[in-house]
Amino acid sequence: MNNETKTNGDPVERGVGRRKFLGVTIGGGAAILAGGSSVLFSTASNAAASAGADSVFKLGGDLPVNRLGFGAMRITGDGIWGWPPNRDEALKVLRRAVELGVDLIDTADAYGPETSELLIAEALHPYPKGLVIATKGGLTRPGPGQWVPNGRPEYLTQCVEKSLKRLRLDRIDLYQLHRVDSKVPMEESLGAIKKMQEAGKIRHVGLSEVGPEEIVRARKVLPIVSVQNQYNVDNRRWDKALAYCEKEGLGFMPWSPVGGGRSLRSGALEAVAKSHGASVYQVAIAWLLARSPVMLPIPGTSSVTHLEENVASGKLQLTPAELKSLDAAS
Ligand SMILES: NC(=O)c1ccc[n+]([C@@H]2O[C@H](COP(=O)([O-])OP(=O)(O)OC[C@H]3O[C@@H](n4cnc5c(N)ncnc54)[C@H](OP(=O)(O)O)[C@@H]3O)[C@@H](O)[C@H]2O)c1
Repeated sequence: MNNETKTNGDPVERGVGRRKFLGVTIGGGAAILAGGSSVLFSTASNAAASAGADSVFKLGGDLPVNRLGFGAMRITGDGIWGWPPNRDEALKVLRRAVELGVDLIDTADAYGPETSELLIAEALHPYPKGLVIATKGGLTRPGPGQWVPNGRPEYLTQCVEKSLKRLRLDRIDLYQLHRVDSKVPMEESLGAIKKMQEAGKIRHVGLSEVGPEEIVRARKVLPIVSVQNQYNVDNRRWDKALAYCEKEGLGFMPWSPVGGGRSLRSGALEAVAKSHGASVYQVAIAWLLARSPVMLPIPGTSSVTHLEENVASGKLQLTPAELKSLDAAS
């Protein structure tokens, strides 16, 4: 993947250089209807807007991505198993995401399994310049809805090779250890990933569902550029991991950013949504983007309408008082 390299050491840049989100390229004050909600888009020069989706985070200091990404787990079948019921819509979602300026797509070999990675390649290969596909390995799928960690080094080596083939890549930009396997020392799992990195098959490495102590341990084995943990306006279990990432300049990808299919319901969320003519999903994403400059939300959907609605939330500007009310809502 040919990603432009920037030399500035700050991992967060605002409103520079990247493919712009669709909302930013249109004139100031244009109202866009997305998914039945009406979020007012503002100009690219608007400081609050540029603190959201239009800011760039550099993974590992050299791999820039727009901060609002897309999670490709929901383009699979029921129970994250098999092919999606509407394959055409899944392909459209992927293509539309890129059209809208999304350049960070998260997936995993376990989604389907395999089908999410295969659909990404089918929809988007040859990949546009700068598109970062972040995949994961180390969580197996004995059946629909079942997830079993496997961090054995030989298994992970095989996972990387197979993801490369399915994604039709020579090198994976971001490879994430999906789970730390309690039966295998983390150092051994990461040792295998390190070897694949040294062989040029992986650019950067990330972790998933880990706290600060595990991140520190992992960083003794190899450089870690991102952490992907469950986190949203209702669930702040990983606040300490987020604080660590912010301090150390690692990307933090919150999974289930809009509740993971379970509705996010709080009075504060609904009140803020109502005052902006936005949906609670949009407010949940805008809150995440405002929460930390290292936050890289990856909302997932199987629907183009929901995708458009979610991407539009990058331009939703929340006031300090609204952010405070949402901070208190967990
Ligand atoms: N590292 C990990 O262990 C891990 C675990 C889970 C997920 N992930 C990653 O994180 C990504 C996001 O997580 P997630 O999919 O669990 O949670 P999510 O993005 O919070 O929620 C997705 C669910 O919300 C619905 N949805 C999304 N936008 C909507 C909208 N605007 N209006 C109405 N419904 C909407 C989707 O349904 P529709 O399809 O109907 O829109 C889907 O059921 C995944 O795609 C995956 O890449 C990682």
